[in-house]
Amino acid sequence: MTFGLRPLLRARPGTLAAMSRRHAAVDEPMNPRASFADRRVVAIQIGQFALVGAIALVIVGLATSLASRRVGEREAITDARSSAVIKAQGLVQPAITDGILAGSKAEIARLDGVIRRDVLDGSLVRVKIWNRAGNILYSDEPLLTGEHYQLGAGELRSIDSGVIEAEVSDLAKPENRYEVSYGKLLEVYLPIHTPSQTPLLFEAYYRYSLVAQSGSRLWHSFAPISLGALVMLELVQIPIAWSLARRLRMRLRERELLLHRALEASDVERRQIASDLHDGAVQDLAGVAYALSAAARRESAHGSEADSFIIEKSAESIRGSIRALRSLIADIYPPDFDEVSFDSAITDLMARASDRGLHTELDIQLADPLADSAARLLYRTTQEGLRNTLDHAEASSLTVSVKQGNGIAILEIVDDGRGFDPKDTPKSRAQGHFGLVALRGLVTDAGGRLDVRSAPKAGTTLRVEVPL
Ligand SMILES: Nc1ncnc2c1ncn2[C@@H]1O[C@H](COP(=O)(O)OP(=O)(O)O)[C@@H](O)[C@H]1O
Ligand SMILES: [Mg+2]
Repeated sequence: MTFGLRPLLRARPGTLAAMSRRHAAVDEPMNPRASFADRRVVAIQIGQFALVGAIALVIVGLATSLASRRVGEREAITDARSSAVIKAQGLVQPAITDGILAGSKAEIARLDGVIRRDVLDGSLVRVKIWNRAGNILYSDEPLLTGEHYQLGAGELRSIDSGVIEAEVSDLAKPENRYEVSYGKLLEVYLPIHTPSQTPLLFEAYYRYSLVAQSGSRLWHSFAPISLGALVMLELVQIPIAWSLARRLRMRLRERELLLHRALEASDVERRQIASDLHDGAVQDLAGVAYALSAAARRESAHGSEADSFIIEKSAESIRGSIRALRSLIADIYPPDFDEVSFDSAITDLMARASDRGLHTELDIQLADPLADSAARLLYRTTQEGLRNTLDHAEASSLTVSVKQGNGIAILEIVDDGRGFDPKDTPKSRAQGHFGLVALRGLVTDAGGRLDVRSAPKAGTTLRVEVPL
């Protein structure tokens, strides 16, 4: 009696059940590699979250800096204008006499005294007083006093209508050549009047750095509040996001684990059925076939050839049923590689494919015997691959090869069937096709990788690498 399943036949009653229990206990799906990978994924997600937060922080920082500089500058300019008005009307105008119009040196010297004592300071660095014709009647820069220049439209408008103007000084103008050393300046001008009501133009030049300073002062007082609040928000959010991401990963993990457990549970069930079949029906039928064969021989010896023929036919039919049952048992029960060699287990699997009319080729080139876990994984892969070829491919030939190299074992199952689009896997998964998905889970858990190369009408290659 050779059915290619000798190891199963040799198993004593009860052994299969014991094996089932052992297999069930060995396949613990969670491993530290997975949780390390999980932590990495979570860390990457949090990194991205923090990066987005940091970018937002920079943008808000720049925007507040710009806005507060603007506000600060506007405030500083307003301050300069009011300071200019107060000084022009409160201090300079009372000190102006009509003698200045005529260029009286004594009057100018007196005005100079007032201006140096009360008007000029750290921020107001230059004063010019013009008449409408464009003559500088007085400046604290003595070289300018008495010079003549063309007044601009803004200045004339200010003299005529009394508006107070403020603008950045054009240091390229010749009348401003003595101010170049101060750097950027803000000039404020407004009309003042002599006692005889002659309108003059009072010009005050302020250091622009003070204006800018006021802007950054404002920013410095704003920044800690607005940016600090953002930083605090981010700091509070990161641990929350971290814990959410971790919980999400955990749920995902749990789902995978559940799927895994469900598959495991069905394995246990199958082993139970296989064991019951083997120890019950198959043993009984084997006994019956044996007894019938003996009876047929007896009948033949007694000359009743017709009865002998019928009995022998029955025995034959029962042996056929036993073969079918054995093949079914092998289908649903994964072999124990302590007892069966990997090669012969795979050969048995292939035999079933050739029974179904496929042209098969098997090429196993392994220098060392496989570890139990690798053998089981590759067996399971072959089983799933063959099942897919038989169920879906309508193939005419099938090649299985197992090679070893660089610390990994490589299994390839190639059929020439109608193929499919592997990108459709999520769709077929949604339709309840879990074979390849579950297999990929197992292979990844073991630190290996699974590739499906296929295209419609182009056959299918299932390739699995497992570390040894
Ligand atoms: N060798 C193959 N040839 C053609 N189609 C295949 C092959 N292997 C898988 N498929 C396609 O991929 C789908 C998913 O396969 P699988 O995950 O094993 O689920 P199931 O076998 O339960 O349908 C199959 O339904 C089939 O359409
Ligand atoms: Mg399948």
